Amino acid sequence: MEQFIIKGGNALSGEVEISGAKNAALALIAAAIMTDETVTIENLPDVRDVNVLLESIEQIGATVERLNPHCVKINGKTIKSTVVDYEHIKKIRASYYLLGALLGKFNEAEVALPGGCNIGSRPIDQHLKGFKALGADVEVEYGMIVTKADKLVGNHIYFDVVSVGATINVMLAAAMADGNTNIENAAKEPHVVDVANMLNKMGANIKGAGTDVIRIKGVKKLKGTDYSVIPDQIEAGTYMMAAAITKGNVLIKNVIPKHLEAISSKLTEIGCKVEEYDDAVRVIGAEKTKSTHVKTLPYPGFPTDMQPQMTVALALAEGTSVVTESIFENRFKYVDELGRMGAHIKVEGNTAIIEGIERYTGASIIAPDLRAGAALVVAGLAAEGYTTVEDIKYIERGYERMDEKLRSLGAQIERVNSEKDITKFKLKVV
Ligand code: EPZ
Repeated sequence: MEQFIIKGGNALSGEVEISGAKNAALALIAAAIMTDETVTIENLPDVRDVNVLLESIEQIGATVERLNPHCVKINGKTIKSTVVDYEHIKKIRASYYLLGALLGKFNEAEVALPGGCNIGSRPIDQHLKGFKALGADVEVEYGMIVTKADKLVGNHIYFDVVSVGATINVMLAAAMADGNTNIENAAKEPHVVDVANMLNKMGANIKGAGTDVIRIKGVKKLKGTDYSVIPDQIEAGTYMMAAAITKGNVLIKNVIPKHLEAISSKLTEIGCKVEEYDDAVRVIGAEKTKSTHVKTLPYPGFPTDMQPQMTVALALAEGTSVVTESIFENRFKYVDELGRMGAHIKVEGNTAIIEGIERYTGASIIAPDLRAGAALVVAGLAAEGYTTVEDIKYIERGYERMDEKLRSLGAQIERVNSEKDITKFKLKVV
């Protein structure tokens, strides 16, 4: 089974180019099928979740032409079916965007229900509440969400929780509904804005994305466009943490520094230096870092998708840090693995209490999910000795060529498949 092997201890240095945002790209792909004209999406990250979603729209008949790993042309005119039961789709949560997109375009959709996942129960009641408010019937039958409407009619929707997925899904469904839709208590994440921007380029009339009230005037139809995905805030944040904990000096390029403010300010608080440029940030690690407290919150708060990476950094900071996870119920699973590398972390409910240690020591660990997996790789980079990370398939859902990008910064990391590969790596790096 493929794993990463890392020999820690090298301070990262140099420049790294950040890919397009996975979570924006997934929603943009769904939005692209809502017109019969061609939509070209550029700066697409070449990661597994994106590739699975592209395969699944192809399965229902959309034309998908991959011009290169980072550019795709999508045409939804050839769609033959509104039923998405493609086996792999169950593995990606973002399959739910096909509900909003197909319902918005064809007034009906049947999509395999996304299952629970490793970060806890992830209900989609707010998505369904939104569809119902627009006039759709929604049933769950045989593991599929079945939704249908005679026609969709704009409405006033108040979300009980701030949800990125529900906000985007209702935006998709309401874009061509009759009349006006107001979404209140909307999510403000950069990818919500990205989807609104692309839909507007396609002819939609969406205002207020990025604030907590989004106003949508339904339009009759959408047209083709060319669009470039925003940079991945979480991939950028992960490399920022990697630079910080290896006491490195890294220029992280192709980013929007504003999207990284919550992360930059925590790094500054613990003693690292963050320099902002127009479309890059430089992180310079500190010889010694200080403890701090972090609470995950919807944007512009500290992102839950950066919580494991931040915890990995705080476990090496002097003093006691407290990390509170307020978005997902089960996002500290990796802490046991980190403990095997020497970290002193106690989890109580949704809070982790961290006593900083001097250094990690390498161990054989397992990636429990995407972001925690990446965080454990980052820990391995700062650990003394060798770390192997198993189940890297999770990491590959959302990080493009992580090993290659880290190697270009001077890390000793390799993808290996067997004991023989591991021995070869060890002989090479000694
Ligand atoms: C998106 O998930 C991201 N996924 C997640 O990224 C990210 O962690 C999350 O937003 C929060 O930022 C994609 O964009 C594909 P939510 P999403 O709806 O939309 C509750 C990663 O690592 N909730 O904003 O599913 C929910 O349980 C992934 O890239 C309801 O109660 O998250 C959670 O507590 C992991 N009912 C909170 O809202 C609903 O109907 C926020 O979830 C919907 C959500």
